[in-house]
Order: sequence, then structure tokens, then C-alpha cells
Amino acid sequence: MERSDRVLILGARGLVGSAFHRLLLQENFTNVVACGRRELDITDARAVLDYFRQVKPDYVLMAAGKVGGIHANSAFPWNFAYDNIVMASNVLEAVRQNGAKKVLMLGSTCIYPRLAPQPIQEESLLSGPLEPTNQWYAIAKIAGIKLGQALRRQHGISVIAAMPTNLYGPNDNFQPEYSHVLPALLHRFHAAKEQAVPKVEIWGTGSPRREFLYVDDLAAALLLLFQVYDDEQIINVGTGQDLEIRELVSLVAETVGYQGDVWYDKHRPDGSPRKQTDSTRLFELGWKPQVELREGLRHTYDWYLTALAQRALRGLVQDNFRAEI
Ligand SMILES: NC(=O)c1ccc[n+]([C@@H]2O[C@H](COP(=O)([O-])OP(=O)(O)OC[C@H]3O[C@@H](n4cnc5c(N)ncnc54)[C@H](OP(=O)(O)O)[C@@H]3O)[C@@H](O)[C@H]2O)c1
Repeated sequence: MERSDRVLILGARGLVGSAFHRLLLQENFTNVVACGRRELDITDARAVLDYFRQVKPDYVLMAAGKVGGIHANSAFPWNFAYDNIVMASNVLEAVRQNGAKKVLMLGSTCIYPRLAPQPIQEESLLSGPLEPTNQWYAIAKIAGIKLGQALRRQHGISVIAAMPTNLYGPNDNFQPEYSHVLPALLHRFHAAKEQAVPKVEIWGTGSPRREFLYVDDLAAALLLLFQVYDDEQIINVGTGQDLEIRELVSLVAETVGYQGDVWYDKHRPDGSPRKQTDSTRLFELGWKPQVELREGLRHTYDWYLTALAQRALRGLVQDNFRAEI
């Protein structure tokens, strides 16, 4: 991969896309095309073909997608299934027609079977039933991975797929209807602190275990994969270190400085009991995470406070957000 190669980032204003963009700029890549929804609606097949014909990317990071936590998945199953399948197929068909040196698709550890043996290895994909709360998203993501593998086998195009663990960092989605557990907690504890709310409700029992990766660490892994990885086999990107949601809750409350109580609503779904990743394959390529959870949370909260003050958080009605109690 040359620094003058044209690198197209789809989903460039999202959590992953923006982190990868920052990294390429730091690394002096000179021909980066950062594409967000404003520039291209990736569900529009004709527009995607036209865009690829015009831009002619050498490398493509497919970081656009319909992404969200348990609430969003159960509220919008059609969007999670349809949008993600259509976006993956539109991008890969445009690559089939126009060629590219390498395409990196993003899956997620959420797409492994609910009861996959821990830590989860790449071979677990499609080895058992999915977690019902995010099955729509999982099926769509698996379809995207399989389309990429088919494109590689039939047309010889280098399509690779990374499976990141739970991510967090700047430009995350803090909208309560869409956010994942970590940004949801940051936002909720911050609102509760500001409004002196005595008690914050947390969904589920607090006992599931989750792993978290700071998004800049993911960006470094993606760049390494573009540079050295060329295999049909999907590849995990995680720390291998997980913790109970209950422990995460304490860390977030401490980061935000919230001193009230928490209450676990055990009638709400927990999701998978555990999703610890085995990233041995990636570690062997020379990557390892640099940002420890406590430090990453601090950076993310600092970013959140600045974005909130500048009214730059996506989608939030910032003058009127309230903590649920
Ligand atoms: N976040 C995680 O914890 C996590 C973990 C593992 C894997 N991943 C995977 O990483 C990828 C990126 O996730 P992310 O967390 O960066 O999500 P994100 O912050 O929501 O970013 C996704 C981006 O995709 C864009 N997008 C959505 N629909 C689009 C459309 N029709 N046309 C063009 N752009 C569209 C969104 O634009 P708008 O903002 O304008 O809608 C958004 O900027 C996804 O494939 C996700 O499955 C994420």
C-alpha cells in the first residue's frame, strides 16, 4: 500500500470511519476520499456504481452501516437487515465492476453464535444459533462477508473482513435509541449528574461480560490488515480482556463523576452472556491494543463534553436530554 494510493472510506463520519481517516492523515496518506451519507447514499445501487466509476479507489474501507445496540435492533429489524445487506452488496458489485486492490469489510463479534466457545475464534462463524436480539444485523453482516468471499473466489478480487469487538471513542453515536452500551452509559450518567438524578437505571442484570476496544486501536489494526493481510478467512480484532457490565458501570460512573445509585432492570434483555475474542491471528501479525479502558473512557468523555458544548453530537436534542430513572 503506497501513501499515494487512493483510499476510499465509506462511513467516514462514523466512529470507525473517522478514526481510520484520522490515522491516514497522521500517516501522511495523500489521496484519501472520505465519503459520508451526505456524499453518497449507499443503499442506492446506481449512485454507488456512478460514484465508484468516478472515484476509482485503490483501497476501500466499508465502514458504513446501520449500527446500534439491543434497543435499536429490536425496534428496527427491517433497517438492520435490509440496509446492511443492500449496502454490502452495492459496494461489492461496484468493486466487481470497477476493480480495486483491496476491500476491507467490517463484521463484528456480535455475529458469532450466541453460545460460541470462549474466547471466540474465527472458525465459530455459522457454527450455532445467533443471539436473537441482534439476529437481523448479524444475518446481514454475514451475508456481506459471504458476498466478499464469493467475489474473491469467482473474480479474484482481494476482499478481507475484520470482526471487531465492542468499540468506543470519538464520534460514537450517543443517541439513546441507537447507542451501544458504553456510549449509552456515558450519556446517561452525564445527564444524571447534570440534573442531580439520584438513581440511574441500567438494562439487564449487569452480569454479561463484554470486551471493549478504543477505536484508534482498531484503526491501527485496519491499516495493518490493508498492508499485510490477504485471506478469505475473517479475522478478529479485540483485546481478549473482558469485564462484567457491572464493572463497566462503575468505571463509567467514576469517569463521569456521578455519585448517585444504580438500579438494574432485570426484566430487560442481557444479550449474549459473553463475547470474549481470540485475536491470536492478528496478534501474530504484530498488532496489539495500546489504549487501556480507563484511559480510553477518559478520552471519550472529554471528546463528548467538547462535542456537547459545540452542539456537535449526532442526533441529540441537546438542550433537553434527560436521564431515565
Ligand atoms: N461500534 C461498534 O461497537 C462496532 C463493533 C464491531 C463492528 N462494528 C462495525 O463497524 C462498522 C462501522 O460502525 P460504526 O460504529 O463506525 O458505526 P457508525 O458510527 O454508526 O458509523 C456508520 C456510518 O455509516 C453511515 N451510513 C449509514 N447508512 C448509510 C447509507 N445509507 N449511506 C451512506 N452512509 C451510511 C452513517 O452515516 P449517518 O451517521 O449519516 O447515518 C455513519 O456515519 C459497521 O459495519 C459496524 O457493524 C462496529
